[in-house]
Amino acid sequence: MPMACSFISCMVLGTLWTLGNIVLQLEARAFFVFGDSLVDSGNNNYLATTARADSPPYGIDYPTHRPTGRFSNGLNIPDIISEQIGAEPVLPYLSPELRGQRLLNGANFASAGIGILNDTGVQFLNIIRMFRQLDYFQQYQQRARALIGADQTKRLVNGALVLITVGGNDFVNNYYLVPYSARSRQFALPDYVKYLISEYKKLLTRLYNLGARRVLVTGTGPLGCVPAELAMRSSNGGCSAELQRAASLYNPQLVQMLKELNKKIGSTVFIAVNTEEMQRNFITDPQAFGFTTSKVACCGQGPYNGLGLCTIASNLCPNRNLYAFWDAFHPSEKASRIIVDQIFSGSTKFMNPMNLSTIMAMDAMS
Ligand SMILES: *[C@@H]1O[C@H](CO)[C@@H](O)[C@H](O)[C@H]1NC(C)=O
Ligand SMILES: *[C@@H]1O[C@H](CO)[C@@H](O)[C@H](O)[C@H]1NC(C)=O
Repeated sequence: MPMACSFISCMVLGTLWTLGNIVLQLEARAFFVFGDSLVDSGNNNYLATTARADSPPYGIDYPTHRPTGRFSNGLNIPDIISEQIGAEPVLPYLSPELRGQRLLNGANFASAGIGILNDTGVQFLNIIRMFRQLDYFQQYQQRARALIGADQTKRLVNGALVLITVGGNDFVNNYYLVPYSARSRQFALPDYVKYLISEYKKLLTRLYNLGARRVLVTGTGPLGCVPAELAMRSSNGGCSAELQRAASLYNPQLVQMLKELNKKIGSTVFIAVNTEEMQRNFITDPQAFGFTTSKVACCGQGPYNGLGLCTIASNLCPNRNLYAFWDAFHPSEKASRIIVDQIFSGSTKFMNPMNLSTIMAMDAMS
């Protein structure tokens, strides 16, 4: 603000300055996140569930060095995307701090333990299932309308970047949770995958109908290679063939379904993120990415530190940057950074039909 001004002109300038700030903040792109523990930033802290990451050593490398509910030693994938686009990390939707101006940055609706299907993660009791995350997105928009009106809210939502990460739990916390699970008796694996894809299509259609126009949709990682599966299903240290088969059936059909949705809509709303391929690289050659291991989790116990939960009583590695996996299921911050780098600048092998740098450049021009 200029220093030299009369009392009145200072007030006018001050008002313009404030208005300018509000307009600027509306111009910044909002970010909405949906899905499971890979992207939950703390919603489950507010729920009566066993799927939580709100005690040490979770958060040990977070700026505050305290647990936040993120399933990471530090930042998670949504945080790193926010960091890269120069925005504040988006708050969990259930956080009481998510109000006023902060509401306009977006919101994170993700909840650890959930899947595409309602019966996924039933053992975690009270979690925010996908249909409820979308209900909350609708409720969010009502709250935003009360603040900035209907037109601005529509602009904010249509202009937002959206990330959705769900599907892994429909295998590990449903179909393969126990031998002879209800879903595995109901469906052969290929039919189960088809069913998941058709249910996911309904959820994504609703997300589109609620105004989402740029949506990053991640596939599942290499499910059979996480430390938990190495500990439970592998005899020789190799990835679990059955879970790898699940991922290799599911991911290409997801890409195909997104293509069909885009074609029907007539524009590139959904962008497929090939996390299986991204992680395959550092799982097959961890040293090339600066990791000493991609098999052993930093925090945990049992073979590969893959059994049970990561708690204060678990083994804990001294240097988290040397581990691809933080706990039995979730990548370390370092691994998440590699994934986000590929989201931004990966080739079409990783990002279909285009990477996030290209999207940001296109959207900035329109
Ligand atoms: C999940 O549950 C909600 C609420 O009961 C219901 O509206 C929705 O259709 C269910 N979804 C599936 C895939 O069954
Ligand atoms: C991805 O992003 C980079 C910029 O970081 C760009 O040079 C490259 O061409 C993009 N690749 C594809 C396939 O879109």
